[in-house]
Amino acid sequence: MSTLLQINASILGEQGQSSQLAARFVAAWKERSPRGQVVQRDLAAEPVPHLSAARFAAFNTPLAQRDAAQSVVAEYSEALIEEIRRADVLVLGLPMYNFGIPSQLKAYFDHIARAGLTFSYTAAGPVGLLQGKRAYVFAARGGLYAGTTLDTQTQYVRDFLRFLGISEVEFVYAEGLAIGAESRESSLSGARAQIDRLFAQQLAA
Ligand SMILES: Cc1cc2nc3c(=O)[nH]c(=O)nc-3n(C[C@H](O)[C@H](O)[C@H](O)COP(=O)(O)O)c2cc1C
Repeated sequence: MSTLLQINASILGEQGQSSQLAARFVAAWKERSPRGQVVQRDLAAEPVPHLSAARFAAFNTPLAQRDAAQSVVAEYSEALIEEIRRADVLVLGLPMYNFGIPSQLKAYFDHIARAGLTFSYTAAGPVGLLQGKRAYVFAARGGLYAGTTLDTQTQYVRDFLRFLGISEVEFVYAEGLAIGAESRESSLSGARAQIDRLFAQQLAA
């Protein structure tokens, strides 16, 4: 049975444009995989705490030496890692806020990047340990950035996921959402059509 993990990072929860595009993808996926399991994580509703020196120390303290507070922190991070480890498909709703990824998503990333658990350093360089997954990212932006140096998200998210071993990553963009009603509508309908095409391609494959 296949598992899909949907992570939304919009401060607007399910109402966010990135979340709505992600939801369209998930609905189509469920139609194709009726026995598949969907796990949802809303980073605005249930924020992951920012990383701190104490939390990072908890990650790096061996199991047997952790105090009670460190165990709580490390086990929380390990539960997040287990959740993504179990997923075959990762769906990420990615708003752009102030030229970057939402801080909620960064805090999540900071809790799933763990040496020895999701990546390891070898003589040949870092190796990602979350292999065999495919990720779909739904990026919503007020302006137009894709393909320009102002797009601080695409390369970063690709690099981060690749670092953890997830290198098959597809982006769907809804840009120009704040430029005007026409731009917004045509961008959203273009993104929806792209999602539909992803599934049409899979059927044809
Ligand atoms: C606090 C905040 C900051 C934003 N900063 C940017 C920005 O830097 N660049 C941009 O293109 N759009 C920006 N926007 C517009 C959002 O990218 C746009 O509303 C998008 O739909 C957000 O995704 P969401 O609807 O899934 O939350 C910003 C919106 C908010 C609320």
